[in-house]
Amino acid sequence: MISMIAAVARNGAIGFENKLLYWLPNDLKRFKALTTGHTIVMGRRTFESLPKGALPNRRNVVLTRNTSFAAENTEVFPSLEAALASCLPDEEVFVIGGASVYAEALPVADRLCLTLVEDTPARADAFFPWLNPAEWRVEHEEHHGTDDRHAFPYTFIDYVRAR
Ligand SMILES: NC(=O)c1ccc[n+]([C@@H]2O[C@H](COP(=O)([O-])OP(=O)(O)OC[C@H]3O[C@@H](n4cnc5c(N)ncnc54)[C@H](OP(=O)(O)O)[C@@H]3O)[C@@H](O)[C@H]2O)c1
Repeated sequence: MISMIAAVARNGAIGFENKLLYWLPNDLKRFKALTTGHTIVMGRRTFESLPKGALPNRRNVVLTRNTSFAAENTEVFPSLEAALASCLPDEEVFVIGGASVYAEALPVADRLCLTLVEDTPARADAFFPWLNPAEWRVEHEEHHGTDDRHAFPYTFIDYVRAR
């Protein structure tokens, strides 16, 4: 099972200057609950944006074409294909970004775990790929309003491939 997990603004934006656009504690909680114990696959830039390096209790896979790249508690692969080939058949894989890796992984993804944030940011330079509505079916949807820790309303929405 290959899932992609992302927090996406109304205009598809996911980042600016190699940083996330939003700080939504419930989104981080969901990210942790879904990915812990499993494999996360990310681009080198997303890895470098993690404040404390590799995320604990997960197999951290980093993609880079730089053959001298190394980082603690990570496995490094030169292509998405090689990274996926290293996974066992029953391994749960979460592609966690960024834009370039989402775009490449979309055709092989089975599920999309998105947090749709009801905002359009003033500035963004990284975007989630366009989704063909004919290819995806909503499996689960959960709306949340604002509160003192969440400045924007957001919806957790899981898509699976339409058969
Ligand atoms: N909203 C969200 O949920 C979310 C999640 C994750 C990231 N983001 C945001 O997304 C932005 C980063 O996205 P990005 O597209 O700039 O960077 P990225 O996808 O994180 O990393 C790009 C780098 O990964 C490596 N790479 C990508 N595809 C590869 C492949 N097929 N084979 C080998 N190496 C590959 C290359 O590294 P080398 O240059 O070292 O070769 C490439 O420069 C940031 O703003 C981040 O905050 C948002």
